[in-house]
Amino acid sequence: MRAVKFDAYGTPDTLTQVDLPTPVPRADQVLIRVRATTVTSAECGMRQGKPDWGRVIIGLRRPRRGFRVLGLEFAGDIAAVGPAVRQLRVGERVFGFTGFGVGANAEYKCLSERASLTTMPGNVAYTDAAATVDGFTTAWHFLHDLANVQNGQKVLVIGASGSIGTYAIQLAKYLGAVVHGVCSGRNAKLVEELGADRVFDYTVEEFTTSGERYDAIFDVVGGSSFTRCRSVLTPRGCYLPTTNLAVNTLLAAATALIRGPRVRTRMSVDKHAALAALRELLIEDRLQIIIDRTYPLSKIAEAHRHVDSGHKVGNVVITIEDD
Ligand SMILES: NC(=O)c1ccc[n+]([C@@H]2O[C@H](COP(=O)([O-])OP(=O)(O)OC[C@H]3O[C@@H](n4cnc5c(N)ncnc54)[C@H](OP(=O)(O)O)[C@@H]3O)[C@@H](O)[C@H]2O)c1
Repeated sequence: MRAVKFDAYGTPDTLTQVDLPTPVPRADQVLIRVRATTVTSAECGMRQGKPDWGRVIIGLRRPRRGFRVLGLEFAGDIAAVGPAVRQLRVGERVFGFTGFGVGANAEYKCLSERASLTTMPGNVAYTDAAATVDGFTTAWHFLHDLANVQNGQKVLVIGASGSIGTYAIQLAKYLGAVVHGVCSGRNAKLVEELGADRVFDYTVEEFTTSGERYDAIFDVVGGSSFTRCRSVLTPRGCYLPTTNLAVNTLLAAATALIRGPRVRTRMSVDKHAALAALRELLIEDRLQIIIDRTYPLSKIAEAHRHVDSGHKVGNVVITIEDD
């Protein structure tokens, strides 16, 4: 099968197209013919070996074998099933998250039927489905599971024009919150159209001096810090960072012990509940899926270059056509 892998940390030039053996599903696994995947900022970090502590998992000097094919989210169809598979059938369209095993930058990927995957609604294209998984389920995990955002609360999303951010604005609105977004001026209209009640242009405005106070501040891109946000959080408010996890995990432990605003952050591993919510919203056609650019697998290095710029809008999709 065609796949793209990287054997050393570095620039997008480290990505090479290779021919690998098609995997064979174990008893409880399904073999997925991947039709679409994406390039996320997290994977570009993995390709570069950043953050440094991530190398403890991925490989100190070079990526371990299990991490050399990237691709965290996918949409495709089931090509074969192991003998113990009960829920899924050959030919069904599925979408989901590969987890830390990554590997959807390839024509085929095996996953347990209990992994974070579900059947695709009939009204959704592979390219759209693949572009929802990581962004939406991460937004769900932070806003729904960790912050428990309620009707009438006020939420600020920093990095509102990225993958997680575009879903976070829509999800916070869906949960009944008043939603403000932080992005650059060129993306302000998009973020308003997604539902933001107020937008701060981070290149010219400072949200901490606006007089607004928030029940939750979701910083998706590391554009702030808890120290900076503390004064604009309500006494029981929470700061939700997806980046700088080493520092923010320590802050989460410390703020859990004292009165006042708290830091909440945790990796989401089990995405079943979030995927079920996502599937319902897709069936009801209630989500806008923002796709910045689409590339074929053979041009994935160009996709990485674009994501490396830090200025993608929404999602960057990779299609894997028949050879
Ligand atoms: N902890 C977890 O469970 C978890 C899960 C998934 C991802 N992550 C992490 O989350 C991070 C973000 O992911 P993502 O894919 O959503 O990001 P992304 O799509 O790459 O974000 C890019 C967007 O951020 C905007 N931006 C850049 N700097 C900004 C700033 N200072 N203020 C406001 N907006 C800014 C850019 O807009 P302009 O071009 O206009 O600047 C661009 O549209 C990644 O680092 C990833 O590793 C964590």
